[in-house]
Amino acid sequence: MKYAMLAGVLLVAAACQTPTPKQTQEVPAAKDQHTLSNADSIRMQHLSLDVAVNFEQHQISGQAVWTIENPSKLPVLKLDTYGLTIDSVTVDGKKVPHTLDPTLPHLGNRLNIPVEAASRKVAIWYKTGSKATALQWLEPSQTLGRKHPFLYTQSESIYARTWIPCPDGPGIRFTYDACVTVPKGLMALMSAENTQQRSDSGIYHFKMEQPVPAYLMALAAGDIAFRAIDQRTGVYAEPAMLEKAHYELGEVGKMVSTAESLYGPYRWGRYDVLILPPGFPLGGMENPRLTFSTPTIIAGDRSLVSLIAHELAHSWSGNLVTNATWEDFWLNEGFTVYFERRIMEAMMGADYADMLWELGYQDLENEVKSLGKDSKDTHLKLDLKDRDPDDGLTSIAYEKGAHFLRLIEETAGRAKLDTFLRHYFDGHAFQTMSTEQFLQYLDANLIQGDTTLARKINIKAWVYGPGIPANCPRVPQKRFEKVDAERNRFLQGTAATQLATQGWTSHEWLHFLRKMPQPLTVAQMEQLDKAFHFTQTGNSEVADRWFIMSVAADYTPAYGSMEQFLSTVGRRKFLTPLYTEMMKTPKGQEMAKRIYGKYKQNYHPLAQETLDKLIK
Ligand code: BES
Ligand code: ZN
Repeated sequence: MKYAMLAGVLLVAAACQTPTPKQTQEVPAAKDQHTLSNADSIRMQHLSLDVAVNFEQHQISGQAVWTIENPSKLPVLKLDTYGLTIDSVTVDGKKVPHTLDPTLPHLGNRLNIPVEAASRKVAIWYKTGSKATALQWLEPSQTLGRKHPFLYTQSESIYARTWIPCPDGPGIRFTYDACVTVPKGLMALMSAENTQQRSDSGIYHFKMEQPVPAYLMALAAGDIAFRAIDQRTGVYAEPAMLEKAHYELGEVGKMVSTAESLYGPYRWGRYDVLILPPGFPLGGMENPRLTFSTPTIIAGDRSLVSLIAHELAHSWSGNLVTNATWEDFWLNEGFTVYFERRIMEAMMGADYADMLWELGYQDLENEVKSLGKDSKDTHLKLDLKDRDPDDGLTSIAYEKGAHFLRLIEETAGRAKLDTFLRHYFDGHAFQTMSTEQFLQYLDANLIQGDTTLARKINIKAWVYGPGIPANCPRVPQKRFEKVDAERNRFLQGTAATQLATQGWTSHEWLHFLRKMPQPLTVAQMEQLDKAFHFTQTGNSEVADRWFIMSVAADYTPAYGSMEQFLSTVGRRKFLTPLYTEMMKTPKGQEMAKRIYGKYKQNYHPLAQETLDKLIK
C-alpha cells in the first residue's frame, strides 16, 4: 500500500512568531474513485500540449506529450479519456500499440499505453469528441460582439479528460506548457502565463510552472481584450464588456493584498479575471492565474464581487492545498467560503460579512431540507462510490464546511485559527489533503489535547454526521433585523413606498425577498414592483429570486423580462431553482418547456444535463 507523507517540509514564514507545527503520522493515501489512471504510481512530471482549435468542426486536436518517470517499472501507463479519438501513441519516438477501454458511466474510457522502466516521453495524437462536456462552443450570435465565435473549457470536476488525455484526479499534479492555434484575430488564454496581447498568427504559447491537477486546466478563445487593474491584476472580456468589467473589478488588486495579509503570499504570479459570455454555467471557476467568471456579477455597483473573493481564495484552499478526492470536496469549498468571508469582512466590515454568513446559513438550511436531514449526503465527508462527483456539488461542502471553520474560530479564538490556517497553507503548498489527514493535522496543531475544546467543537458530528449540528454558529444580524422589520411592516399593510429601504445593498434586497411568504398575491407583487422595479433589476441574484416569486404568484408582468433573462443566462445556480418552480404547475410546465426548448442551445452542456432531467 502506498502512503502519502502528510506534512513533508513545513515552511514557516519568517514573520510568524509561533512554534513550528507538529509533523503528524502518515495517513493512508485516499483512494480516488473517479480516475481510471495509475498515475499515482507513475510520476507525471510535465505536459506539453500542442493543439489547434477548430470552430467549424467543434473540435480540439493535436498532441499531448507527457514526460514521465516510472520507478516502479509498471508495464502500462493508464490515462483518463472520455470520448477522445486516439490517432496514435509513441513512447520515446517509437510507435506503440495502445488500447482504449469501453466507456464506463461517469468515468469514460481508460487509455492503456505500454511503457518500460526507462520510458520518458509519451506522445498522444488525439481529437476531442462531439460530446466533450468540458467544452462550450458559442456561435457569434451567442456573444456580445456577435462577430466572432467563442470557446471555453470547464474541467472541474472530471471533465479535463474530455479534452486532454490525462491523469484526471485532483491528487495528481503536473506542470505544463502549451502551444494553441486559434483562428487569426481571436485571442487565446489559459490557466497559465498569458501574453495579454493578440497574436497575428493565431498561435499562442503558454507556460505553467507551478504544478496543478488536471481539473485546473483551462482554455478560452474568442474576441477578448485585456485591461490592467494594477501591476499584478487585470481583467479580460469581450471588448463591449471591458469597461464595465474593469469598473466592477476595480478592487481586485486590494482584494489580493487583503487575502495575503490573512493567509500568506499569493504564489501564482498574476491574478486576472476573464469575464465569459452569459452562457457560463457557473458563477466562477478558480482556474489558476485566471479566474473564469460569469458576467452576471457585473451589476454596475460592485455588489457581487464576493464571488471574485471566493475564486481568489481558492488560490490557497483548493489550488495550493487540494482535496485529495472529490469525497473531500469540502476541504476545497468550505475553506474557500470561510476565507472569502474573511476577505469581505476585512474590506467591507463585519456587518457586511455577516449578511453573507446569514444568506449562506439559509442556503445550508434549504439544502439540508431538500437532501433530508439524515441523508449521508449532508456529511462533510462524502461517499461518492459509483456516483457522479457532481452529486457532491451541494451547499453542504460550501456552507456546512464554512460554518465548521467558523465554529472552530469562535471556540478556539480567531488568532489561534488564523495561525493554524496560515501554517496549514504554507506547510502543504502544492500538495493534496484528505479529510482524515486534515483531521489529524487539526488534532496535532490546534486541538492539542484540549479535551474541553474538542468536546465543544464535536468534530465527528460535523464531518461524519448528518444535518446541521446543534452547535452551528449563527452570526448577529444587525442589518437583516432592519430588513425583517420592514418586510413585516409591508406584510401588515404599510405601503411599499413607505418602507425604509435607503442604502440597502443587493444582500438586503435578497433577504427581503427570500423571507416573503410564497406565493404573494398579485396585488402585493404589483405593489412591490411599482415601488422597487424588481422586474427591471440589473442585479442577477435579486432578479432570479424575483422571477421565482413571480412564477409562484403567477405575476405575468414579469414574464417578459424573465424570458429575456432565461434566453441568455446559463448559470446553473439561477436556472435550476427557477425552472424547478415553473415545473410545479401545469401552466408553469408548459412555460418551462417552451422557454427551455427555445434557448437550450445557449446553455452549457453541463447545465443542459441538469435541466434535461428536470424538464420532461
Ligand atoms: N470550484 C467551484 C466551481 C465548481 C465546483 C465547478 C465543482 C465544478 C465542480 C467554484 O469555485 C465555485 O464554487 N463557484 C460558485 C460561486 C461561489 C461564489 C460559491 C458558483 O459557481 O456558483
Ligand atoms: Zn469554490
